[in-house]
Formats: sequence, C-alpha cells, structure tokens
Amino acid sequence: MQTPNDSLHIPVQDPVRKKMSPARKRRITTYSLLAILGLAVLLPLASYSIHWLGHEAVAQEAGSVVNPRSNTWRAVNGGIGGYTAVKGQETDVLIAPGGIDWLVKREATIGKYAPWAIVVMAVILLLYHLLHGRNKLDAPRSGRRIKRWNWFDRLVHWVTAISFIALAITGVSMLIGRAVLIPLLGKAGFAMWAQASTTIHHVLGPLFTVGIVLMIVMWIWHNFPNATDIQWFKEGGGLFSKTHPSAGRMNGGEKVWFWVVTMAGLAVCVTGLILVAPAYGIPIPAWASFIPLVEGARPQMQQAHMIHAVVSIGWTAIALGHIYIGTAGTEGAFEGMSTGYVSTEWAKQHHDQWYAKAEADGKVIEPAGSRRRARRAEAQAHSTAS
Ligand code: HEM
Ligand code: HEM
Repeated sequence: MQTPNDSLHIPVQDPVRKKMSPARKRRITTYSLLAILGLAVLLPLASYSIHWLGHEAVAQEAGSVVNPRSNTWRAVNGGIGGYTAVKGQETDVLIAPGGIDWLVKREATIGKYAPWAIVVMAVILLLYHLLHGRNKLDAPRSGRRIKRWNWFDRLVHWVTAISFIALAITGVSMLIGRAVLIPLLGKAGFAMWAQASTTIHHVLGPLFTVGIVLMIVMWIWHNFPNATDIQWFKEGGGLFSKTHPSAGRMNGGEKVWFWVVTMAGLAVCVTGLILVAPAYGIPIPAWASFIPLVEGARPQMQQAHMIHAVVSIGWTAIALGHIYIGTAGTEGAFEGMSTGYVSTEWAKQHHDQWYAKAEADGKVIEPAGSRRRARRAEAQAHSTAS
C-alpha cells in the first residue's frame, strides 16, 4: 500500500537526526561544563548551610521555649537541696559547687604557678655556684675532729630528708603530672605512676610527720636566736665575702631553716593528715575544723589541700637551698650529718664559738695514732733529760 507521501516523493524529516549547528553545539557544551563545575563547588557546601539553618532553628527555639529541667539543675547548682538515697555526709546535696571552685584553683592557679618557685630557686643556686663556687675550708685538715650529731640525730635527719624528697616528687607528680608527665610517659605510663605516687605519698606522709615532730623536739634547744645571729645576718652570713661571721653551735641561717622546718612542717603535716585520714578509714577529726571559714568534711579537705600544696611547694623550693649548702655548697658540712663528726677546721671556720667551747671542754678528738705519737715523744724527751 502506498502512502500519500510516497506518491508525492517528499522526504520525511527525522527531528532527532536534524543536524545541530556547530555554534549551538559549542554553546551547549560550554554551559554544561559550567553547570557541572558550579555544582561541584556548591554541593559540598550544602551541609554547612543545613548546619547553619539548624542552629538558627535551635537558637530560635531556645529563645522562645525554656527547658524546665535546665532551670532545675541551675537551682541545684546554686545550692538548693534534693533527695539522695545515700545518707551521711552531704545528705540531699545533689551538686557541691565548691568542688568546681577548688578544682579551678588547683589547676589554673596552684598547679600553674607554684611549681615555678622550685625552678626559680634551682636557677638561683646554679648561678650562685657558677659565679661564687664552693665555700672551701681555709686551712688544711689536721685530722682533729669534734662529735656534732649522734646516731639518733642522723637517723631522724635522713629518714625525714629522704621521705621529704619522695613526698616532694610524688606530690608535684600528682599536681602537675597530667600536663608534664603524660607527654613523657604516655597515658598508661602516667596512670601507673600517679597511682604509685598516691600510695607512696599516703605511706610516707605519716612517717615524715613523726620525723618532723622529733626534729623539732630534739633540736629546738639550740635554735633560739641570739645577738650573735643578728651580727651573722648583718655580715650576710659570709655568703658574698671571704670572711666568716661568728656563730655558736648553729648559725643564723641554720636557725632560720630550723624555724622554716617547724612552721612549714606543722602546716604541711597537719593538712596532710587531714587529707590522708580517709585513706586509712579514719573520719576527719573534729579538731580539723580549726581551719577557718569552712564547715563540712569536703570543704575542709579542699581548703587543707590548697594550704598543703602551696606551703609544701614553697618549702621544697627553700629546701633546695639547705640541700645545696649541705652538699656542693660547703666543704665539710655533709660529713657532719653522715658520720656524726666534723673537722676542727670546719668547726673553727663556721661555728667559732662552738669550737672554742668544745676545745675548752676537752671534746676535740685527736687523730688516730696521734696520742701514741705524743706519748712516744714525751717518753723520748724524758729519757733524754734523764
Ligand atoms: C639531701 C638532702 C639533705 C642534706 C644533704 C642535708 C644536710 C644537712 C646537714 C649537713 C646538716 C648539718 C648542718 C650542721 O651541722 O651545721 C643538716 C641539718 C639539718 N637538716 Fe638537713 N639535709 C637534707 C635534707 C633535709 C630536709 C629535707 C630537712 C627537713 C625536712 C632537713 C632538716 C634539717 C634540720 C632541721 C637540720 C638542723 C638545723 C638546725 O638544727 O639548725 N634536712 N642537714
Ligand atoms: C614536704 C613534704 C610534702 C610535699 C612536698 C607534699 C606535696 C603535696 C602536693 C603538691 C600535693 C597536691 C597533689 C595534687 O594536687 O594532686 C599533696 C597532696 C597530698 N599530700 Fe602531701 N606533701 C608533703 C607531705 C605530706 C604529708 C606529711 C602528708 C601526710 C601526713 C601528705 C599527705 C598528702 C595527701 C593525702 C595528699 C592528697 C593526695 C591524694 O590526692 O590522694 N603530704 N602533697
């Protein structure tokens, strides 16, 4: 069958096959590429706009509707009581806001500034040692000695000194370890050390307290200040000169150290005992309420902690001075506390009045063999004379 078109021989035009002009093709390609590029840039940003819109929505909602629960917790934070199933200390207290205040003081003030006292003191002592050098004995040693400390003095001194060093290291580790030690030991390593530090601190603290009490009782007698000490200070303790100011059994500087030990020792040990009592299952004793302005076991512990941390760190800085003078700073001092005896040259140089009295009382010990030599010389002189 023939169609009308067949008879007319008109060619059928295929709309798809219709040829596009090259200019139109280029235009379409260019616009498509631009559209793809634009979407590629804009689509990833869409998430931000959704987030932003969400925020707006939340902010609007918050402005208009107040969550009643948040008001309740605001009131609880402000000190309003509630109900606690566990009865005892702080019954019905849901949040103790003092804890946050204490934490902020511990981290942002005490932990941030106090340990610098130790660093500053170490730098001062290092500079002094580099510029001034060791305080040496002026005269060569003759071998003559004087007994200065008995075995019990030395036992008490070293038990207290060693536990002090351990308490200082563990105390500072607990205070600033998270900031300083985690980068060195890692989190797991620091966790182990922090646990060990707490245990060491809890065990040595009471032992140290006994040492401090013994030191005070045993040595207070030769540490009362007198006129000689005032003169000793006027002469700067001989620290910056070649002269040696006069002194009795203890000099002015040592007496100051003794009173620092007494005052700081009492503050640190009393506050330390308040802190350590619960670790031994002992309730905080009633006398702990002497600490001013606060009531209740937890606020008392917070205040005790702050006094303890500040005083003990200041004391550690001062102790560096005592440790320096007792070791690298002064020739002949360490042997007194290690063997119990000092050379007469050291005694004459640093404690001339004490030396004169020891000499007068016949307490100077001649070197071994010197008595035999003296007896032989005496016998020889006798036989020559006869
Ligand atoms: C490694 C650390 C220490 C060293 C090398 C050291 C050394 C000495 C020496 C040599 C003396 C005798 C001074 C003299 O004979 O005139 C002494 C006395 C003394 N030390 Fe230490 N000491 C150290 C740590 C401590 C600590 C940590 C404390 C206290 C917590 C302390 C408290 C005392 C006291 C109270 C005296 C007697 C002072 C006086 O009675 O005036 N020492 N020390
Ligand atoms: C001179 C010696 C001492 C030094 C340098 C010292 C240092 C410190 C420091 C810096 C802290 C604060 C730690 C922190 O904030 O995490 C602390 C906490 C503490 N100290 Fe001492 N302390 C000394 C002596 C004592 C004594 C004698 C006792 C007990 C009789 C004691 C018991 C405590 C306790 C129980 C804590 C709380 C530790 C914990 O969180 O479990 N400390 N000490």
